[in-house]
Amino acid sequence: MECEKAGHEVAFIRMIDLEVRTCNGCGGCGSSLDKGGNGKCVIKDDLPFVDEEFMNSDAIIVAAPVYALGPSGQLKQVVDRFGPSHDLAFLTMANNQRIVDGKTGDQLVDPRNFKQRYAGLISVGGAKTQNWVSFGLPTMHLLCFPSQIKVIDQIDAYNMGSRGNPVLDNELMERVRKLGQNIASAVGKPHAEVGWMGDEEGVCPVCHCDLITIKGTTTVECPVCGIYGKLSVEGDRVSVTFSEEEQQRSRHTFAGKMEHYTEIKSFGAIAEPKIKAAGEELPKMLKKYEGYKELSKKK
Ligand SMILES: Cc1cc2nc3c(=O)[nH]c(=O)nc-3n(C[C@H](O)[C@H](O)[C@H](O)COP(=O)(O)O)c2cc1C
Repeated sequence: MECEKAGHEVAFIRMIDLEVRTCNGCGGCGSSLDKGGNGKCVIKDDLPFVDEEFMNSDAIIVAAPVYALGPSGQLKQVVDRFGPSHDLAFLTMANNQRIVDGKTGDQLVDPRNFKQRYAGLISVGGAKTQNWVSFGLPTMHLLCFPSQIKVIDQIDAYNMGSRGNPVLDNELMERVRKLGQNIASAVGKPHAEVGWMGDEEGVCPVCHCDLITIKGTTTVECPVCGIYGKLSVEGDRVSVTFSEEEQQRSRHTFAGKMEHYTEIKSFGAIAEPKIKAAGEELPKMLKKYEGYKELSKKK
């Protein structure tokens, strides 16, 4: 409503009303892109409708209830289906190749993929203790990094149980309105001109989340961004410093996605000789796992 007040056109999608099936790992999105197609998911359900709205959008505000510490399943369904088909590294590399090949117009990757979009995230949890919503906001970021939507504001609205209803909490509703205003103010501007507008800086300066993975040394990792930082302790205070270089390789950045693109593109050269060398042995090795004690509803 705040975005509408600021003059933007707004649409609301209730995911629970839609059918979004699970990603089955068929690789259809990637091969479509390689063959000059649009790189979209090949499963025909309600996702194309969501995708078309997304492609037309300049910004998204995503809200999800916390179920079992993270966002409810609908969000992850979209994350899995959107991730590979909206990955800016894959889309950019495919588009560059098409330009080299002399393709033009509709033969190029849909230019709407390259819009500089913004996101505001709202995680809504019932529990009074924040440790019951630990993976809410961090998981919601997974919707944003493939197409490089810049998250500029986020609200961890836990403690819904005590509030009764969010509209009874003026402070929360005011904060939510502010998120809408922040998004409205960002739309149309290049990413470089818009900074973080959330309340908390968070431990990670890129995603502004508080999750950290510790693997036995003071070199720790932000699991959302996949970047390394140096942990230090002063009295009771703990802080993590992420170098500028590491921040630049977050998967929220293009360089971060290119790292993964390069990794994925290298798999073929490594795995294909192994598969070739195994020859007829491989199907034989797999045979014993096929349908092993599989229950089926089909008679
Ligand atoms: C299956 C299920 C699991 C839930 N798990 C959590 C949880 O782990 N942590 C939490 O804070 N709230 C949890 N909740 C509460 C929801 O987050 C809460 O009901 C929701 O945010 C409020 O929206 P509603 O009014 O539509 O229910 C859970 C609710 C359901 C139905």
